[in-house]
Amino acid sequence: MYMNNKVLGVFIIVLVIMKILLLGRKKDFIMKKAGFIGLGIMGRPMAKNLLKAGIQLEVFDLNQAAVDELVGLGAVSAAPASMGKSCDVVFLSLPNGAISQDTLFKADGVASQITPGTVVCDTSSVTPVESKYCYEKLKALGCGFVDAPVSGGEPKAIDGTLAFMAGGDQADFDALQEYFNAMGASALLVGGSGSGSVTKLANQVIVNLTIAAVSEAFVLAAKAGADPWKVYQAIRGGLAGSVVMDAKIPMIVDRNFVPGGKISINHKDIKNVLATAHAIDVPAPMSAQLFEIMQALKVGGHMNDDHGGIVQYFEQLAGVEVKSDKKA
Ligand SMILES: NC(=O)c1ccc[n+]([C@@H]2O[C@H](COP(=O)([O-])OP(=O)(O)OC[C@H]3O[C@@H](n4cnc5c(N)ncnc54)[C@H](O)[C@@H]3O)[C@@H](O)[C@H]2O)c1
Repeated sequence: MYMNNKVLGVFIIVLVIMKILLLGRKKDFIMKKAGFIGLGIMGRPMAKNLLKAGIQLEVFDLNQAAVDELVGLGAVSAAPASMGKSCDVVFLSLPNGAISQDTLFKADGVASQITPGTVVCDTSSVTPVESKYCYEKLKALGCGFVDAPVSGGEPKAIDGTLAFMAGGDQADFDALQEYFNAMGASALLVGGSGSGSVTKLANQVIVNLTIAAVSEAFVLAAKAGADPWKVYQAIRGGLAGSVVMDAKIPMIVDRNFVPGGKISINHKDIKNVLATAHAIDVPAPMSAQLFEIMQALKVGGHMNDDHGGIVQYFEQLAGVEVKSDKKA
């Protein structure tokens, strides 16, 4: 009797283990379908990483060449409305909040035929007010919305090591986890709807003001006759060193302003910072000054330069260029 119980016990344990293994395998075989709208500098590599992870992918962009490239890699071209109908999740990577809202809510937009339970994730950098608007409208249709802008720029979008900063409901965030894993190194739910977007605005204040501070400092050093590359090597390991300086000084001294992150996109972000700050009575004097610097760069025709090109504003004031043959 004792032996029989023992054999039965082992049998049950083996059954449980087999069930766990089978369930795990079954999960691998479930084909999730995702939609991706906006295949630009960021969206294109993000969509590619979803494909690499074995996710069935539908794509849309106004730029047909970008769509064709993804279709060549295994994606299917689809209209936003049909993505809303048939995809489990729909990602957006679009230039601004007005375009995100239009893409979702225009007559033939994603929401026009959306299936309840679909989760939309906006990875674009927008204002928290714009994100909350999308959240409320999709909630009313029985769908989820997570604002999940990213940090890391094009290199980390390509590597699949972006940082997602998210706002929304825990269950919707959880439903996006495997997609975040395919595109990023980290994803953090900061809080309710709009929290991801406001976190990104804070991030943009720090990044762009750091570029401006680095620019002012290196123009000073260059005009005084110091080789900017040697100045960089001398200070990068100290308190002034930063990820921003490491990313932008090599580009600046090479006079390489091919974007990465365009000044136009960052101009939009700082404009959104000021609108958000003013709406809740937060004075933002440094961001206000930065916005005027970006306005001057706009007038000078620099909107499509990388935001490392902010240095050109300071160079023009001082009549000097921050360049080096990097012989240090
Ligand atoms: N580039 C960066 O370093 C960076 C970093 C973090 C976050 N972001 C944010 O990510 C978002 C995308 O940035 P990006 O640099 O890839 O911009 P981008 O201009 O390179 O790409 C935007 C894409 O959206 C497409 N598009 C525009 N309107 C559309 C519409 N109505 N329907 C479908 N497609 C449309 C464009 O054709 C383009 O391919 C922005 O909100 C930006 O602020 C950018």
